[in-house]
Formats: sequence, structure tokens, C-alpha cells
Amino acid sequence: MGILPELQERRSYRAISPEPIEKDVLTRLLVAATLAPSCFNNQPWRMIVIEKAQDTPHYQLVAATLNQGNAWALEAPVLVTFATAAHLDCRLDEGRDYAYFDVGQAVMAMQIQAQAEELIAHILAGYSASKLRRILKLPQEYVPLCVLAVGWPGDEAKLPENLRVAENSLRSRKNLNEVAFSGAFDTPWF
Ligand SMILES: Cc1cc2nc3c(=O)[nH]c(=O)nc-3n(C[C@H](O)[C@H](O)[C@H](O)COP(=O)(O)O)c2cc1C
Repeated sequence: MGILPELQERRSYRAISPEPIEKDVLTRLLVAATLAPSCFNNQPWRMIVIEKAQDTPHYQLVAATLNQGNAWALEAPVLVTFATAAHLDCRLDEGRDYAYFDVGQAVMAMQIQAQAEELIAHILAGYSASKLRRILKLPQEYVPLCVLAVGWPGDEAKLPENLRVAENSLRSRKNLNEVAFSGAFDTPWF
């Protein structure tokens, strides 16, 4: 058995088509995210979906919070913000605030479902969180952790040269010996 295709083939592509995504597909993505495990089943994820076709002015407000380097994401028909607050989930010793951890799992679950649906779901952290919080009406204790730009694969010819190159780049990962250990931190996996 090899690595699952949804994991192997998922990439943070930026060439996204503006074509809208059907409601039932979006609902499946949301349900997939909610199937993630969480500490005591606290389910701390909150997902705010904004569809360009349904609510263009609101979409434009959210889009305006993105950093310039993320301008490519303005083509995406859907932006999903994942938010949470530490008090929604386990807070254990040694700084173990599981809200963020569990939201990460929900994001990955959505990404895997998106991959199986042949959608791109590109995570962004490059935006003004304070502006985004205001636009989404998130209470102060909530953190807008990431935005997913979701859409069908698009035309990479529309991307600037550097991003077009990145679309076709080889995947870059640290050597397993740098991140995996056998028994203790001082013994690399291999
Ligand atoms: C928390 C987080 C924040 C990210 N923020 C951005 C971003 O603001 N803009 C962007 O283009 N990509 C962003 N990415 C995508 C990463 O650059 C990408 O996942 C990484 O380079 C690995 O590439 P891959 O997803 O194709 O395997 C982000 C990813 C994560 C997990």
C-alpha cells in the first residue's frame, strides 16, 4: 500500500477557477471537517463560508483583508474562515491548548474531502486578522486561524510568473530524519 492519493496529490495550488461550487458540495466539505476528532469531542471549529456569487460585497470585504501576496485567492469562488477560541476546547498543562490543534485536524479533513472532490482548498494565514474578525463579527476571544480559498482548478496562465513556476515545482519536504525519531529525540528515524 502506498500513501493515500488524497494526501500524495494535494498541493496548495493557486490557479483557481471562479466557477461557483454547488451548495451540496460545500456542505460535504463542511461535514467532512466536522468528522475530525477533538478533545472530549468539544468540536471547537467554527467555519464561516463566503460565496462570491451569493454575497459579492461581503466577499469583497473579506478579500480586501488578504495580503497583497495572496491576491491570486481573489479568483476563488469560496472563502472559508476557520475560527476558534481557546475556551471552546481542552486547556491542559504545558501550554496544551487543543482548540488550535483540533481546528487543524478539521481543516485537514476538509482538505482531504476537497481533494477527493477534485477541488483546490488552499490554506491562507496572510491576512489582517483584526479586520477579518470585525467583518465576520467574531467576538474578541475568537481567533480567525486560517482562510481556505476553495475552488475548481483554474488557468495557471493567469498567474504571475513566479506563482506559475510554483504551481509546477517539486514538493519540498524536510528529510524524515529531521522530523521523525526512533524512541527518543536524539535518535533519528533512519
Ligand atoms: C497555516 C498555514 C498558512 C498558510 N498561509 C499561506 C498564505 O498566506 N499564502 C499562501 O499562498 N500559502 C499559504 N499556505 C500554504 C503553504 O505555503 C503550503 O502548504 C506549503 O508551502 C506546502 O505546500 P503544499 O501544501 O503544496 O504541500 C499556508 C499553509 C498553512 C498550513
